[in-house]
Amino acid sequence: MTGLTSVGILGTGSQVPDNVVTNFDLEKRLDTSDEWIRSRTGIVARRIAADNEATSDLAIGAARAALDDANVSADEVDLLIVATCTPDRLMPATAVIVQAALGATKAAAFDLNAACSGFAYALDIATQALRGGAYRRALVIGAEVMSRTVNWNDRAVCVLFGDAAGAVVLGPVEKGGVLSSYLGADGAGANLLYIPAGGYREPNTPATLEANRNCMIMNGREVYRFAVQVMGEAVIKALSQCGLTPDNISLFVPHQANIRIIESAAKRLALPFDKVFINLDKYGNTSAASIPLALDEAVRAGRIHAGDIVVTVGFGAGLTWGANVIEWTAKGSSV
Ligand code: ACO
Repeated sequence: MTGLTSVGILGTGSQVPDNVVTNFDLEKRLDTSDEWIRSRTGIVARRIAADNEATSDLAIGAARAALDDANVSADEVDLLIVATCTPDRLMPATAVIVQAALGATKAAAFDLNAACSGFAYALDIATQALRGGAYRRALVIGAEVMSRTVNWNDRAVCVLFGDAAGAVVLGPVEKGGVLSSYLGADGAGANLLYIPAGGYREPNTPATLEANRNCMIMNGREVYRFAVQVMGEAVIKALSQCGLTPDNISLFVPHQANIRIIESAAKRLALPFDKVFINLDKYGNTSAASIPLALDEAVRAGRIHAGDIVVTVGFGAGLTWGANVIEWTAKGSSV
């Protein structure tokens, strides 16, 4: 990497809606049980956005917290990416709403949609952009209101998801930072997890709404199979790119979709479970927000220290996947 700048995470932040919906709340309105959801997924509760709360509102809160944490002002940010598959509107990008609210007037701003892998993708794209020296400060945000994508009568899907945002500020550091990333996609699996209507192939009409074609359709078993396989593989490939192995991992921060998927990945990597960060019990699957929210909570819980090798991995609709290897940098070490 001679001649190229190292790029590290200078600060983290997150925001979740106030409204907590527990499995017991769902039991009252659906043919499901706390026992089923907890044992099949590890989820106990999720946060659901208020009617007047959208992806940008959560993103703005998370971004402000990350900027504060990094001691970076909004007008220093020159690149702003919102990873989301639940944008406020199809046009313009949610990122410009966030940019205006923050006063990040010097930032190029765009959305990135790689579903639950969105944060892994955005972190790599921003790192590459900063590494070349064209940008100095990037805000990478994962934000979602997944609760608006599900049919609340479809028990196989609606119990899994929640709403949240997480953000990181990236900047040049002396050494360490994002060491490598490994991203992948397989569009042959596009129909395993998708929302049929609401784009421009099939705009929503009273008939599509009546048929719930504006809601997510998921082949849970196939997605499960794919996730178990790809998580371990992506982590090993990302680690090998920077000459590391799973033994070097200080903390594993996987996409928080299902505890059984995470357990299989940890087993595959021969990682003891005390090196795995879990918060899906509180939030469920928050898609692109899941990893940055978990990173922020892990930092605040004292689970991540300077010099640690933190490995993240996401997977989701597309199908897509992505892993990042990060050597955590000390506060104030930006150059
Ligand atoms: N409550 C009670 N019973 C339920 C519920 C529920 N909420 N949901 C499904 N069931 C029933 C099913 O109807 C089925 O009943 P049947 O045997 O009488 O037909 C039974 O439970 C078993 O269903 P399965 O689908 O086989 O359950 P499984 O053990 O596979 O778990 C799950 C389902 C949790 C969805 C699992 O497949 C999974 O986690 N898949 C991965 C999903 C995922 O991570 N998706 C997100 C990807 S990220 C993104 O980009 C959005």
